[in-house]
Amino acid sequence: MDTIIILDFGSQYTQLIARKVRELNVYCEIHPFNKVPVLGDDVKGVIFSGSPYSCNAADAPVPPIEGIKGRLPLLGVCYGAQYLAKWGGGRVQKSQTREYGRANLQFVDNECPLMKDVPMQSQVWMSHGDTIEQLPDGYRVICSTSSVRNAGFQVEGELTFGLQFHPEVHHSTDGMTLLRNFVVGVCGCRQEWTPQSFIETTVEALRRQVGNDKVVLGLSGGVDSTVAAMLLHRAVGNQLHCIFVDNGLLRKNEFNDVLESYKDMGLNVKGVDASQRFYEVLSGVTDPERKRKAIGKTFVEVFDAEAKTIVDAKWLGQGTIYPDVIESSSVKGPSQTIKSHHNVGGLPDYMKLGLVEPLRSLFKDEVRRVGRQLGIKDTLIGRHPFPGPGLAIRILGEVTPEKVRVLQEVDDIFITSLRKHGLYDKVWQAGAVLLPIQSVGVMGDERTYERVVALRAVESVDGMTADWCHLPYDFLAQVSNDIINCVKGVNRVCYDISSKPPATIEWE
Ligand code: XMP
Repeated sequence: MDTIIILDFGSQYTQLIARKVRELNVYCEIHPFNKVPVLGDDVKGVIFSGSPYSCNAADAPVPPIEGIKGRLPLLGVCYGAQYLAKWGGGRVQKSQTREYGRANLQFVDNECPLMKDVPMQSQVWMSHGDTIEQLPDGYRVICSTSSVRNAGFQVEGELTFGLQFHPEVHHSTDGMTLLRNFVVGVCGCRQEWTPQSFIETTVEALRRQVGNDKVVLGLSGGVDSTVAAMLLHRAVGNQLHCIFVDNGLLRKNEFNDVLESYKDMGLNVKGVDASQRFYEVLSGVTDPERKRKAIGKTFVEVFDAEAKTIVDAKWLGQGTIYPDVIESSSVKGPSQTIKSHHNVGGLPDYMKLGLVEPLRSLFKDEVRRVGRQLGIKDTLIGRHPFPGPGLAIRILGEVTPEKVRVLQEVDDIFITSLRKHGLYDKVWQAGAVLLPIQSVGVMGDERTYERVVALRAVESVDGMTADWCHLPYDFLAQVSNDIINCVKGVNRVCYDISSKPPATIEWE
């Protein structure tokens, strides 16, 4: 497969470059700048990302220029461009004014293959503290804005380019044209990275890896584990043994509904009802992190016991996706744990199973596309994310089976209404939270003193940041009425209007 290598210098936009290249149906990989892989014949070009560093800083990351520049097509973005300019003998210095935000190209050299079809006035997104004051000899300007003369350059006689702005960012209106020009036009990559080709090569590779052995996989009802299971199923059929644990903290009817869907899909799946065991370990626990740890530990115990009944299992299938892989070997190191997100399917070392991770190279949107291509129903593929510890972290304070039942009813009314009003797919994640307080109300002539729930619905791309959804008032009014009328024990509904940051999506 024709491949582009993206070397990461720590920019917040590096993953975005990769996603945009993949959108062009070209395969690419991100590697830290100091761990460059062997560049084989499949590698058709290299991109240097941006960085929070100035290339004049003493501890600035040093790109491995020799062996790449002049040998393979190379595109430096922001820091990458500045470094190339400095390395060649140019002058990079602090901008007089910090250049951040929208700008327009006032000069474009359409003869340059990188700038083909990019119009004058094209809007570009700048985000840099340094500027390329002077280009080295033999470097030619290919675009400028009114305040940045050396906004883009090409090294004469080479397929080496630099862009001071970020073509990968949505606000750079011709950014995709620029990236296509580089990846397809300059590097000559064939646009062969499609869900279908991924499925074919992955199924083939899984057959080779697994052979005649048995594989165990924990299904969670989520997109990643479902798609991983379907790929493995296609590769090794009933050698795949799936386990779906009911922790008693799922949505209303979810365990039975999802289990039925899995069976319809032909998966060899065993449903394990362990609800009581989870309720027991959660009894008396109020601290969110202790809840997560207790649930994670119990899950491993239940899964472990079930997996052991599958005699001679040699492999553990997991739905690990590319952002997890990048994160674990990133320039910055693993990011700080704000909430310890337990990994459903994580097993103790002593089980000594080999890992099979068919989704290791995919971004979330690619997992969905592969899932659709595999024929998985939209109701499974388009499901909102749901936390591993489930409703336990949406019941503030102690979790009891009775509180779970109340919250399941409330959540069900909210989610069903979102679907009924065509809002479900417009929302990234939605759910309800049971608060640890009671409030006074009046029903008929009676004074009530009952529970309060909060509804949460957010828009997001990856869950790292989120904004609360501006759901229509009429819709919220209807949902609130339905909840108070139908769920015994609830007399007040609130709507959460906090963004992340500073709030988080879940309340615990
Ligand atoms: P926060 O609350 O950190 O949530 O803004 C971001 C995303 O992560 C999900 N989440 C979890 N997922 N185990 C999980 O598997 C957890 O402990 C956990 N906590 C939060 C949350 O639902 C949202 O999609």
